[in-house]
Amino acid sequence: MRAEAMRLVCCAAAGLLLLFGGCIGGVPPDLEGVTLVFKHGKVVGDPAALTFLLRRFEASHPGVRVREEVLPAATDEQHQFYVINLEGRSADFDVLAMDVIWVPEFIRAGWLRDLSAVLPPSERGAFFAGPIRAVSREGRVFAVPWYIDAGVLYWRKDLLAKYGLEPPRTWFDLIRAARTVTRAEPGLYGFVWQGKQYEGLICDALEFLRSNGGDVLRDGRVVIRSPENREALQLMRDLIHRYGVSPPLVTSATEEPTRHIFGRGKAVFLRNWPYAWNLFQREGSPVRGRVGMGPLPAFPGHAPASTLGGWQLGVNRYSRHPREAEALVAFLCSYEAQKHLSRTVGYRPTRRALYRDPEVLSAQPVLGVLYDIFAAARPRPVTPYYMMISQILQSQFSAVLTGIRGPDAALERAREEIAFVLG
Ligand code: GLC
Repeated sequence: MRAEAMRLVCCAAAGLLLLFGGCIGGVPPDLEGVTLVFKHGKVVGDPAALTFLLRRFEASHPGVRVREEVLPAATDEQHQFYVINLEGRSADFDVLAMDVIWVPEFIRAGWLRDLSAVLPPSERGAFFAGPIRAVSREGRVFAVPWYIDAGVLYWRKDLLAKYGLEPPRTWFDLIRAARTVTRAEPGLYGFVWQGKQYEGLICDALEFLRSNGGDVLRDGRVVIRSPENREALQLMRDLIHRYGVSPPLVTSATEEPTRHIFGRGKAVFLRNWPYAWNLFQREGSPVRGRVGMGPLPAFPGHAPASTLGGWQLGVNRYSRHPREAEALVAFLCSYEAQKHLSRTVGYRPTRRALYRDPEVLSAQPVLGVLYDIFAAARPRPVTPYYMMISQILQSQFSAVLTGIRGPDAALERAREEIAFVLG
């Protein structure tokens, strides 16, 4: 298959179940002196919360040490690291945190251990369905969902109240509200989001397209060249160039710069993932107590369409310590470990029951709002060729935002190229 050839070319370039004692996965005593390397992206907020769990794991697994190796925050860069190293059969890391979009590709390439014994079918229903689908193939699972993400809208509730405005339900409500506030309050941006040419742009763009009834693939068919998508892409561009509610800087912005702008009190609306909530509510935050969060807007007559995101833990197929690595995955994805991470750094659990746990809800009341958003979140196309599709969309959508190409021409090019990849 062409896509496979292209992939190779791309490649070249129990709980805390038993948190406080015991051992998951039954590590035999003769395996002393094992060091597991756990690769993951930067923990925004307080990295000590995760390190605490790793020390607990070591305490309950004598002879096993865990070394964290932190990769750059951007998902695309992490993906590149793994592709190069796993293609080279690297055994330099044992456990890896994977973006939900990579797992089908990594399964197909044979880079992940089958974790069906860690997460047997009877336990899968305890998790949100979207991430389980992404880690499964033919009834087996190759990773365990660790935390979930979905796009949300943040707004300044103090400013909306001051001007008698409600949180927007449609994109046009958002435009009107942003203009009302920014006209009266110079120096504020209306709406900031992620428009740089990278994976985050695809997350945001799909939210616009799908909240107008559009999409990229439907039942495996390329349906990208539609009037709904054209209108949605045009609106993204118009936010910047026609309505002036989004500053041109969004065309080079990722999550963190937009989070900082809003967090310094410089914007009325922000699209981001839920991780930003806790940072806005921290002591000393200029927007503490002044932020609302909820579903994204939609086009009139359509439902919001939050993109599903999130991270899963898997075991490197070439790991020299697969049993210990599996035990670490089971431990970090257990009810108690997810509970600890949600109460400290605000990671959103993939286990649904945690959204009804009174201790979790009292530490993170916002999870009550998020449950429905997560349950309804829309996955990006679940295919081993997703990253190639994303590359195509990234360059075409970015060309529209920066005015290099009109929406029609961009959608037609994307259609041709995606059809070629899917053969
Ligand atoms: C977040 C999401 C991830 C997504 C990425 C895009 O990390 O969890 O799924 O791909 O943002 O920047």
